[in-house]
Amino acid sequence: TTKATLIINGTLVDAHQQVNKQLLMLDGKIAQIADKITQYPSGTQIIDAKGMHVMPGGIDVHTHFNIDVGISRSCDDFYTGTRSAACGGTTTIIDHMGFGPRGCSLGHQLEVYKEYAKDRAVIDYSFHGVIQHVDDQVLEDMQAMVEQEGISSFKLYLTYGYKLDDDSALKALTRLNELNALTAVHPENDAAIAQRRAKLIKEGKTAPKYHGVSRPLECEAEAIARMINLASLAGDAPLYIVHLSNGLGLDYIRLAKNNKQAVWSETCPQYMLLDDSLYNDIDAVKYVMSPPLRPQAELEKLWQGVIDGSIDTIATDHCSFTYADQKQAGVTDFTKCPNGMPGVETRMPLMFSEGVSKGRISPEKFVELTSFKPAKLFGLYPQKGCLLEGSDADIVIFDPEQQVTISHSMLHDNTDYTPFENYPLTGWPVMTFSRGKLVARNGEFLGTAGAGQFLRRKQFDKNRLK
Ligand code: URP
Ligand code: ZN
Ligand code: ZN
Ligand code: ZN
Repeated sequence: TTKATLIINGTLVDAHQQVNKQLLMLDGKIAQIADKITQYPSGTQIIDAKGMHVMPGGIDVHTHFNIDVGISRSCDDFYTGTRSAACGGTTTIIDHMGFGPRGCSLGHQLEVYKEYAKDRAVIDYSFHGVIQHVDDQVLEDMQAMVEQEGISSFKLYLTYGYKLDDDSALKALTRLNELNALTAVHPENDAAIAQRRAKLIKEGKTAPKYHGVSRPLECEAEAIARMINLASLAGDAPLYIVHLSNGLGLDYIRLAKNNKQAVWSETCPQYMLLDDSLYNDIDAVKYVMSPPLRPQAELEKLWQGVIDGSIDTIATDHCSFTYADQKQAGVTDFTKCPNGMPGVETRMPLMFSEGVSKGRISPEKFVELTSFKPAKLFGLYPQKGCLLEGSDADIVIFDPEQQVTISHSMLHDNTDYTPFENYPLTGWPVMTFSRGKLVARNGEFLGTAGAGQFLRRKQFDKNRLK
């Protein structure tokens, strides 16, 4: 059993308010929140959190651990990936499973991924279903996934090898709407990318910097608009746009939300903080991911979307490949570069520093973006995403004043770089608790492989977030 812990003198912050109260963790749950807690077991560890923010642990709803992308396998598995997450203040991840063998059943990847995570994950986890083709069997199998397995969100892709056409996308949206499940989409226009890629290759323009040129923001914005309209045609099927990177796509999302459509969106720190000038650098392959980094002007638009609520969540799309080895495959040919970058450990510190410390968002908004709305959207609330009696004791204590300069050497993933090397921060997660157990303290990992539990998620309730 986990030792009881009493946090005193801290400021408790959730998505709605800040209060100066004490918090008792007992048997993995938040047992009590009160002005003064006087009854607790002997041997309870008492933490003085004076000057600290005590917040719900982060929920990163977009990781790719141990993913086979065909040309490579990502270098973080469910141990190193969740270890890194925990050290960065994240206590739950929802992983986007990779594609399975062509024609495999909907449940196939779930079994594969449960095996990957079991005995490895140090914090709680779930998976989004992955729809790589649509037929009667897949549509039927969705029901058991939602109702028995607790998988209440599914992703489809509009580009890559298993892209869905409109017919399949419509069928998936319609069926998932019926089953009270959320459709997440990787939106990029495949034809435009393919044409541009072919032209670039013909012209010998295969340096990493052409990765961005091959998939400009209109590719993404077009696919976002298309999916929004298909979701509407599917009876206002709930739709979740992953890794939004640009302002035009955001405008379409904003319009849909203004029209009261059931649309939500996610962005990632890299799209808010890094721009496409990095593709001119000698180490440009580090930043090869899809969607690519965008022109500087887009960054501020995303911040505006976060501030006005058009963007609902901040996740990472953590999909790591080593620079020294795996990413080198793309040095002379971007089409050979495994796409993606690490970020699961730096999300919370970066968003706290750039958001809260710089005065762009409140601490409550920070919690909303990194934990509360992810929990609401993906069926984990109120088990996760809040500080309520009875909720899991998944807690991060942030020191809002601590100054840190990011370097890869302080991180706990299994890659060999961070895109945020030398990034200066104000604010740092000093303690992370998973189900009441201290799993990270001041950059030291204290957790255990296999302690993380698979989370069966609740069905999607459109009305709770409209
Ligand atoms: O480049 C990326 N983002 N790789 C991961 C897969 C995806 O598209 O999310
Ligand atoms: Zn609240
Ligand atoms: Zn994607
Ligand atoms: Zn992804």
